[in-house]
Amino acid sequence: MAKLRASPSGPLKGTVRVPGDKSISHRSLILGALAAGRTIVSGILEGDDVLSTAGALRALGAHIERTKDGRWVVDGLGLGAMREPGSVLDLGNSGTGARLTMGVVATQPFTSFFTGDASLCKRPMARVTDPLKRMGAQILARSGTRLPLAITGSEEATPIEYTLPVPSAQVKSAILLAGLGTAGETTVIEPEPTRDHTERMLRRFGATVHVSDEKADGKMQRRVTVVGEPELRPAPVQVPGDPSSAAFLAVAALILPGSEVRIENVGMNPLRTGVFESLREMGADIRFENERKDGDEEIADLVVRASALRAISVPAERAPRMIDEYPIFAVAAALAHGTTRMEGLAELKVKESDRLSAIANGLRACGATVAEDGDALTVEGLGGPLPGGANIDAALDHRIAMVFLVAGLAARSAVTVDGTETIATSFPGFASLMEGLGASITPMNR
Ligand code: S3P
Repeated sequence: MAKLRASPSGPLKGTVRVPGDKSISHRSLILGALAAGRTIVSGILEGDDVLSTAGALRALGAHIERTKDGRWVVDGLGLGAMREPGSVLDLGNSGTGARLTMGVVATQPFTSFFTGDASLCKRPMARVTDPLKRMGAQILARSGTRLPLAITGSEEATPIEYTLPVPSAQVKSAILLAGLGTAGETTVIEPEPTRDHTERMLRRFGATVHVSDEKADGKMQRRVTVVGEPELRPAPVQVPGDPSSAAFLAVAALILPGSEVRIENVGMNPLRTGVFESLREMGADIRFENERKDGDEEIADLVVRASALRAISVPAERAPRMIDEYPIFAVAAALAHGTTRMEGLAELKVKESDRLSAIANGLRACGATVAEDGDALTVEGLGGPLPGGANIDAALDHRIAMVFLVAGLAARSAVTVDGTETIATSFPGFASLMEGLGASITPMNR
């Protein structure tokens, strides 16, 4: 296992770009594979997760290649023209890759087998298999709900109206993708809106998608409907930088005194920016410059300056808009003045690891005082650097690995992270990019 040590560092300075957005990268390949003809994707994340999805789509018959200039070309087959994969689809560490691809094959008249790494095989799949079964797919899963699993798609799928029991863009997207291969209208109702990249891209590829906000039992909910069996047309995709990756740099710059970092071309989809909102509430000096729209998505350059942070309470309803960023946000909270409380974190327990305990245990090992209480997390800010000196196991979770490397930069003693190869799932080149800004992250002897 690869091991990295992050040592107390001086200010971070410079201008960088982060790799492409993971969610949009997966979707660009999937929609490209479902459209008849050639889709060109620029700025794609060449991380292990996205490569796993590319592998699965190739096995289903799509041609996907990287050109010399770094763009990706997807030659899609058209809806309904996929072929039965000759071997097991291995989605590695990727929940998005697995769940969205399950939606794709749920309406294809053949059998596909899915597996993943030890982390993915632990993650709950009933949230996707339940609605897909209601649409007509036959699914057999280990222990009823885990990978490996097999899906035999239904050629005559039934459109459903489905209220999401958990706020999950992966589940919503799996149902909408299955809805493409289903005659009639398939509707997903979201009590709490989640990232809407699928809806935006589906429209761009020629599908009809209706989105409306409505009141039910006094509460707002979002209704998303896709009209089945569209002619999907290829459309060029320009993938913005991943705001979830930018959040690691932003927090590092905020907590290392004297830092000033510019992160260019970051995706600013309003359903993804909860972490920046929360950090600004804490007093963070984060500016959005050059705000623009490129293709389907809002984009900006972020200018982040080291700031004195004050504790806040993060309301549960913000959780879907910063779900992947709580781990790094908790580091900012640990260095802030006062006690920060985050509520509504149940979904963190079923990510690449149980992130609620991983954050709590890791921060405690670094010398912070942290309490888990149901699905809430309370972090007592030290008002300055963490003691550090911890050795953290990333446990196949890329974000946990990066979180504690950032923590180590702002600690009194170095933090070592084991299993850092997992960082390549979402942020290849993380350590060298951070070093380029002035951080001290060094490989350890095995
Ligand atoms: C994602 C949705 C979120 C997020 C994940 C990417 C997506 O997962 O945590 O990193 O691309 O749709 P859930 O749908 O499980 O909330």
